[in-house]
Amino acid sequence: MTRVVNEDEQGDESEGGGNLYLLKPGIRRYTPARLLLGAVSLAALALSTSALRPSTSASKRKPLSAYDAQVLELMAKMTLDEKVGQMTEADASALKDPGDVGKYHLGSVLNGGDSDPDAGNSLQAWTDMVDRFQREAIKTRLGIPLIYGVDAVHGHNNVLGAVIFPHNIGLGCARDPKLVEKVERVTAEEVRATGINWAFAPCVTVPRDIRWGRTYEGYGEHPELPRLLGGPAVMGFQGDDLSNPLSVAACAKHYAGDGGTTWGSSMNHKVDQGDTRVDEATLRRIHLQGYISAVQAGVATIMPSYSSWNGVKCSASKRLLTDILKDELGFQGFLISDWAALDELPGDHKTQIATSINAGMDMVMEPYRYQLFFADLKELALEGKVPMSRIDDAVKRILRVKAAMGLLNKNRSPLADRTLWKSFGSPEHRQVARQAVRESLVLLKNDRQTLPLSKQASWIHVAGRSADDLGNQCGGWTIRWMGQSGEVTPSGTTILTAIRKAVGRSTKVTFSKDGTGGAGASVGVVVVGETPYAEGRGDTNDLNLAAEDAQAIANVKRAGIPVAVILLSGRPMVLGDALEKSDAFLAAWLPGTEGDGVADVLFGDYKPTGKLSFSWPRSMAQVPIHQGDANYDPLFPYGFGLTY
Ligand code: BGC
Ligand code: BGC
Repeated sequence: MTRVVNEDEQGDESEGGGNLYLLKPGIRRYTPARLLLGAVSLAALALSTSALRPSTSASKRKPLSAYDAQVLELMAKMTLDEKVGQMTEADASALKDPGDVGKYHLGSVLNGGDSDPDAGNSLQAWTDMVDRFQREAIKTRLGIPLIYGVDAVHGHNNVLGAVIFPHNIGLGCARDPKLVEKVERVTAEEVRATGINWAFAPCVTVPRDIRWGRTYEGYGEHPELPRLLGGPAVMGFQGDDLSNPLSVAACAKHYAGDGGTTWGSSMNHKVDQGDTRVDEATLRRIHLQGYISAVQAGVATIMPSYSSWNGVKCSASKRLLTDILKDELGFQGFLISDWAALDELPGDHKTQIATSINAGMDMVMEPYRYQLFFADLKELALEGKVPMSRIDDAVKRILRVKAAMGLLNKNRSPLADRTLWKSFGSPEHRQVARQAVRESLVLLKNDRQTLPLSKQASWIHVAGRSADDLGNQCGGWTIRWMGQSGEVTPSGTTILTAIRKAVGRSTKVTFSKDGTGGAGASVGVVVVGETPYAEGRGDTNDLNLAAEDAQAIANVKRAGIPVAVILLSGRPMVLGDALEKSDAFLAAWLPGTEGDGVADVLFGDYKPTGKLSFSWPRSMAQVPIHQGDANYDPLFPYGFGLTY
């Protein structure tokens, strides 16, 4: 039996922003006691109470149900095959015959993390591929275009030359809703340039265990962060009006409690896709906050999580999908299952489908077995094991979103607008990413005013294996699912290059990976940290700095010069004596392609403002650790951050 833990009972919680009852959208009620608690913990962090304010205001946006008349008219013409097809999503790499889009009346195609166009990852190859599938859809009897999905989780990260933004963990340290909205606006534009109209983002998870390989996908350990930033992210993707040709449909994920799983409770990994063992009040207070914010902002889609809640897979939970999300929270869009996630449910394939659709799943991501899914769901409908009313509800929800996106407007082409190519990866877009980078950096230590560095220093010695490594800067979900060290994408600025660009002509900049050769320099800058990973493959019980990294820091220290360390990582790491050996220490997370933003902070063009979105442990023995724990004694508390 699973033990259901209320984190409150463990003294494990004093969540400032999680003090919200889940009611109909737009209705918020705070209990005085919780409001007080929130105020106290926020004051302790010296945060403004604006963090508690709902993230987005109601806009002129129409509710999705406003399109129902148009949708029902279309549905009256649809066959069962056409309805089942709308509920089916296949992966592009599995669609060997593009004609299958028409044959199975597919509602959607996606590209998973490692699913690339045959012609490579160029902007042109992506656009041509998407248009090819879209043309198949508009050739069908009813000509309903595809909603085409991709993981644009820190920029349009599958495409070479796209601007890669900091992963969400960094945006959580910036705590700037306007910035997040801007970031996702730019991302939406770059996604649109390839003809894609749907992003599997934002991830509004609350990672409660930094051993989780997806920690960086979340804004932070505290629900106030997805609560604050989830809505603005949705607004950035979708704008005020989904039919705007620069908008893409957003997808809040992974619902619910993906970040709350217990170490060792996962079938396939350690934390990822495991079981979240908390009572419903705790689930609501911690793990539902980002969804409240996203639904209020009109999010078009939500992705149920691979993980379980008290032993029941989220994809099978009627309580979560229908009762709470649709009925109570009033979510009017559609649910898309995670990658082959139904395969994880009990029973045979047909049973898995029946369970999930009956629980409230609307569209199913069946990357490879889309033909089988189509056949099985059709059979289930004919047998009455999935009631027609449920199929109709799912199709209505999918078509509402398509209608709101303007996809049912026959006078409008769903093909890519290639004039957008000119702003793809543009300097203007990079400027927004650079701002995001400088706002996300957290200064953890700065003895003897080591930082900011002078642009007139005579000699800066740069060291560490990540100083000149774009791939390590970007992390997972960059061109490849797992990311990749080295020159993962052709455009972008490494930290070494950014330093070289920033200094005056008289300043000498040298570089050695292992840190040797710095004796006599004015200062050493060492860039170390994690190498890229994604999802469960990043689950680990060892967050110690790699020996090679510790050695590079030690080597620079041995030169007898001041040492500034920059850590690139998807989560806090155990620093050992690296912190003592450094005079200044910056947590830069996974900043993406714009290394100039790091230089802005290093040289004081921007004074650090980032505040830790996670508690920083002293040792692995302290993990998991969160603000509000009894005996909370981290190396650096949640909310910590120095400035100059
Ligand atoms: C896909 C990813 C997906 C993963 C799930 C990979 O092959 O490319 O998009 O998330 O499989 O296991
Ligand atoms: C991940 C999702 C992602 C999907 C599609 C899954 O493995 O959990 O976050 O959206 O793949 O690539």
